[in-house]
Amino acid sequence: MSALFKSSKKDVLVIGCGPSGMAQVNALAGAKNMNVSCFEMNSEIGGLWTWTTNVGSDCHGSMYRYHQTNGLNEFLELENYSFLEHFGHLITSYPPRAVMLDYLQGWTRKMGGDKCVTVNRKVTSVEWDASTSKFNVVSHDTKTDFRYLNSFDKVVCCNGHFSNPNWVKPIDGMEDFTGAVMHSHSFRDAQDFKGKDIMLVGNGYSGEDIAMQLVKFGAKSATITYRTEQAHADGAFTKLGWQIVERPLPTRFDKASGEFKFAEGAPLKPDVVMYCTGYKHTFKFLSDELQLRTPNRLVPDMLWKGIVHPDNTNLLFVGMPDQYYTFTMFFAQAMFIKGCIEGKVSYPSKEEMAAHVKEWQDKEDVAHASGDHAEHHRLQLAHTNDACEMVGFKLRDDGDLICQWQDDRHRDILKYRDCVAKSKVDGTESLIYNVPWTMMFTDDKISYLSWCRAETERLVREGIVKLP
Ligand SMILES: Cc1cc2nc3c(=O)[nH]c(=O)nc-3n(C[C@H](O)[C@H](O)[C@H](O)COP(=O)(O)OP(=O)(O)OC[C@H]3O[C@@H](n4cnc5c(N)ncnc54)[C@H](O)[C@@H]3O)c2cc1C
Ligand SMILES: NC(=O)c1ccc[n+]([C@@H]2O[C@H](COP(=O)([O-])OP(=O)(O)OC[C@H]3O[C@@H](n4cnc5c(N)ncnc54)[C@H](OP(=O)(O)O)[C@@H]3O)[C@@H](O)[C@H]2O)c1
Repeated sequence: MSALFKSSKKDVLVIGCGPSGMAQVNALAGAKNMNVSCFEMNSEIGGLWTWTTNVGSDCHGSMYRYHQTNGLNEFLELENYSFLEHFGHLITSYPPRAVMLDYLQGWTRKMGGDKCVTVNRKVTSVEWDASTSKFNVVSHDTKTDFRYLNSFDKVVCCNGHFSNPNWVKPIDGMEDFTGAVMHSHSFRDAQDFKGKDIMLVGNGYSGEDIAMQLVKFGAKSATITYRTEQAHADGAFTKLGWQIVERPLPTRFDKASGEFKFAEGAPLKPDVVMYCTGYKHTFKFLSDELQLRTPNRLVPDMLWKGIVHPDNTNLLFVGMPDQYYTFTMFFAQAMFIKGCIEGKVSYPSKEEMAAHVKEWQDKEDVAHASGDHAEHHRLQLAHTNDACEMVGFKLRDDGDLICQWQDDRHRDILKYRDCVAKSKVDGTESLIYNVPWTMMFTDDKISYLSWCRAETERLVREGIVKLP
C-alpha cells in the first residue's frame, strides 16, 4: 500500500471484557480514527461477574454462587446509564451477582462497545516490535484451537487482578493436615460445605464474606484467622447464633492431635482450611520488558497515573489499583486512555513518571497510617481525577455513599445488605427486599427482578414513589 493510502487510524486492542474492558470499549465506541478490537477469553462478557463451576489455575473466575454486591450498588451506577434506564424499575442496593451482570451487559450494548468484542479469544502473547512501532499479538480461539497473529498500535490490558491466588507460607506443620486445603479462588458454592467446620486464613472481604456464606448455607462453623488485626467486634457475626468467630492465626498444626494450636485459647480441628489471602497481579501474555510488577495497592507500582506503562506509553492498563471505586473508576480511567490515544495527553519523562508514582504512593502511605477508610477512598478519587482532569473528565465523588456503607457494615455486618440508598444519577431510592439477606437462599435473577418490578409498580400506584 502506498504511503498516500495508508490508514491514519490507530489499531487498538483491549484485552479482556470484564467491567474494565467494558468500560474501555464503551469509552472508545464510535471514536473516530480508531479500529478497536477486544479479545475476551470467556464465552460471555462480564469478567468476575460471570459464574462458572470450573476451578483451577487456568480458570479466571473467583466468583461464587449467591454473591450479592458487597458495596452499595449506588456506587457502581454509571452516569450515562442509570439502573432505572436498564431495568425499567427500582432495585435493591445489594442485588444478586447476575443482576449486576445483566446491567453491565446492557450498558455495553447501549454504548455499542459490544460490537468490537470477540469472545472465546485468549491473548497468549504481546510483544513490542520496535521496527514497526507496533505490538505483535498472538491470540487463540478456545473453541476452534486456531491461532491468530495481529498487530496493534495500542494495547489496553483489562484482564483483572483477582484470579491468581496469593498462596502464602503454610502454617507450621501444615503438611500433616489431612483435611481439604483450598484458596478462595476455587470457592464456588457454600452448599458444598454443609455440616463442616472451616478455618479461613485472612480476614479481608473474601474471608469475611465467604465465612458468612458458609454458615448461612449450613456449615457448622467458620473460624476467620487474621494476621494483623481483628476486623469486627467480638460477637458481630454471632447475633443470629451463627458460629463465626475471628481469631489470630494459629501458631502450628499438631499432627498427634490433628489440631491447630493457637497462642491463646482452644485448639481447632477443622475439616477444611481455606486461604483467603488475596490475589497477585499476573500478565502471562506480556513479554518480560512489558511486564507490570506491582502488589495490590491503591497506587500501583510503575504505572503513571495508575494507567500508563512508563517504558512504553502505548501499553495502558485499566482496573489495576486496589478497589474502593470499581465500575465508575474503570470508566474514568478508560476516558483518560481515550484522550491518550487521541493525542490529548503529553507524557513526561520516565523519571518524572516515577517521581509522580512515588508522590502518590507517599500519600497512600499517609492514608494507610491514618487507619481511616475515608482517607483511602478520597485518595482513590483524587488519584483517578489527577489523570482525568487532563482530558476534561471527572470521576463522581461517592465519598458520602462509601461512608454510609461503612457505617452500615459497622452497625451490623449481618444486616448491612438490607440497607437502602439514593441514586446519584437520578435521585431514586432503592427498594427494601421482601426477605433479609440472612434469609435469602436463592440467586434467581428472574424472581428477584419480577419482585422488584411489582414492588415499584405498587409504590408508584400508591403514590409513595414518583419516578423521574
Ligand atoms: C469474589 C469477588 C467478589 C467481588 N465482588 C465485588 C462487588 O460486590 N462489588 C464490586 O464493586 N467489586 C467486586 N469485586 C471486585 C471486582 O474485581 C470488580 O468488580 C471487577 O470485576 C473487576 O473488573 P475487571 O474487568 O478489571 O476484571 P475481571 O472482572 O477479572 O475481568 C477480566 C476479564 O479479562 C479476561 N481475560 C483475562 N485474561 C485474558 C486473556 N489472556 N485474553 C483474553 N481475555 C482475558 C477474563 O476472562 C475476564 O473476563 C469482587 C471480586 C471478587 C474476586
Ligand atoms: N463478596 C464480596 O463482597 C467480596 C468477596 C470476595 C472478594 N471481594 C473483592 O475481592 C478483592 C480481594 O479481596 P480478598 O479478601 O480476596 O483479598 P485482600 O483484600 O487482598 O485480603 C487478603 C487477606 O489475606 C491476608 N493475608 C495476606 N497474606 C497473609 C499471610 N501471609 N498470612 C495470613 N494472612 C495473610 C491479609 O491480611 P493483612 O490484613 O494482615 O494484610 C488480608 O486479610 C477485594 O477487592 C474485595 O472487595 C469481594
